[in-house]
Amino acid sequence: MSVPGIPKDFWNARFSEDGFAYGDRASRLLFAFRDLLKPGQSALVPACGEGRDAVFLAQCGLAVTAVDMSAAGLAKTQALAAAHGVTVTCLEADLSTWDWPVGSFDVIAAMFAHMPSSFRPVLHRRFLAALKPGGHVFLEGFLPAQIDYQKSHNSGGPHNVDFLFDPADIRADFAGAEELSLMTGIETLTEGPYHHGPAALLRAVFRKPETK
Ligand SMILES: C[S@@+](CC[C@H](N)C(=O)[O-])C[C@H]1O[C@@H](n2cnc3c(N)ncnc32)[C@H](O)[C@@H]1O
Repeated sequence: MSVPGIPKDFWNARFSEDGFAYGDRASRLLFAFRDLLKPGQSALVPACGEGRDAVFLAQCGLAVTAVDMSAAGLAKTQALAAAHGVTVTCLEADLSTWDWPVGSFDVIAAMFAHMPSSFRPVLHRRFLAALKPGGHVFLEGFLPAQIDYQKSHNSGGPHNVDFLFDPADIRADFAGAEELSLMTGIETLTEGPYHHGPAALLRAVFRKPETK
């Protein structure tokens, strides 16, 4: 049974438009923590969209698996990887029913993978389970305050507050992991036509303990 979220058809239509809905440059979070990314590591990019983060990680020398339910997004991911001369393994799957690997990845990069609160904590626990001990999860999303910025600047994100990232919820989701960074604030996005203008963001990095 799939999650009650934004339907696949919406994403396929969005990713069938010309250009890149959220740009082709990776999240600024990955640039900020570039020192944690090492050639030869394995990375998972759930909800990869059109592949901007997956391709960046591959360019950094990581072996990247990108998962999304949108075939159109995955086709763009493959094309972007080819344009940069790197390889990304693309899998079309619903993250709520995917057979999640356990203890398999050094890095998980989940940007704007907004889900309903009925599923979000489950997904985030899957991230931790899928990491190797000592692995890192990079997480970016919109805060509840983004509702105001949608009204004033149309700068992106789900319009249903239930999908947005409350810092207390995110900390609870990743309880047991080491919080290397959790920052919230207003930043002007320049990530394609659908992430553009002042926005209320959460960016976080968690490390799975070596013993778990
Ligand atoms: C806002 S886009 C973000 C794309 C990309 N991470 C980025 O930042 O450019 C959300 C993505 O989540 C994917 N998605 C949403 N729900 C999903 C689910 N249940 N399973 C797999 N992918 C899902 C959509 O297809 C879409 O690509």
